[in-house]
Amino acid sequence: MLKVADIDVAYGHAKVLYNIFLELEAGKTVFIVGRNGAGKTTLLKSIVGLIRPIKGSIYYDNENITGLLPNKLYHRGIRYVNQDKKVFGSLTVQENIELAAFSSGEPLSRALNKVLEIYPKMKEFLQLKAGQLSGGQRQVLLIGQALVGDPRLMLIDEPTQGLAAVVINDIAKILSRLRGKLTTIIVEQNLPLVSRLADQVIVLKEGKVSRILNDVSEIRNIALLEKSL
Ligand SMILES: Nc1ncnc2c1ncn2[C@@H]1O[C@H](COP(=O)(O)OP(=O)(O)OP(=O)(O)O)[C@@H](O)[C@H]1O
Ligand SMILES: [Mg+2]
Repeated sequence: MLKVADIDVAYGHAKVLYNIFLELEAGKTVFIVGRNGAGKTTLLKSIVGLIRPIKGSIYYDNENITGLLPNKLYHRGIRYVNQDKKVFGSLTVQENIELAAFSSGEPLSRALNKVLEIYPKMKEFLQLKAGQLSGGQRQVLLIGQALVGDPRLMLIDEPTQGLAAVVINDIAKILSRLRGKLTTIIVEQNLPLVSRLADQVIVLKEGKVSRILNDVSEIRNIALLEKSL
């Protein structure tokens, strides 16, 4: 469903991704791992149209989407949850969900249900300013918003970064429930979590794909993942 064909990406003259080639099957949960600065976020941004590669192409359902703007890709079902965990803090949680409902054209009641389905406790917070949510609750809200409309490909950048262990567990449960329902690409540094949930692991090293793990016995081997970084 997604094919990244030999892309290079640069910021000005500084090239940060080299000859990236990926092919993703529909319904899979793919994790991207790699050290800080490896280019993980840059790769996600390229796929969702925030950065245009200087070489190569990206195909989605066999259609060349290289250079299409994020808004166009959103309406084709591509969702991006960025690394910043930024919500509209001065709006209520419900108003944040209303924005997603408005953007996608989904009725508010269905949008609300989608968020409450992955995290029923959010019902208590709907009238709270989103800025008052904890980091973990914000992450859940952002994932919930990304589910509004008709997402088919979801990209999530470091969903557990900076969160406490119990909260990471909540996020892991949510990600685990999404497994198989849509195609997901998750950047994640928590290797035990990666090992538990991944169908495929892509290792980025200094802007290049250095390894792709498809085999379950390899993916479940945390020491091997660690060594691959
Ligand atoms: N807007 C930018 N302008 C210039 N260079 C950038 C920009 N964003 C990222 N870079 C550089 O590109 C390289 C890849 O960055 P990127 O954010 O993609 O890495 P990452 O793997 O997501 O890292 P992290 O684990 O810290 O999130 C780094 O060397 C970074 O300094
Ligand atoms: Mg990053």
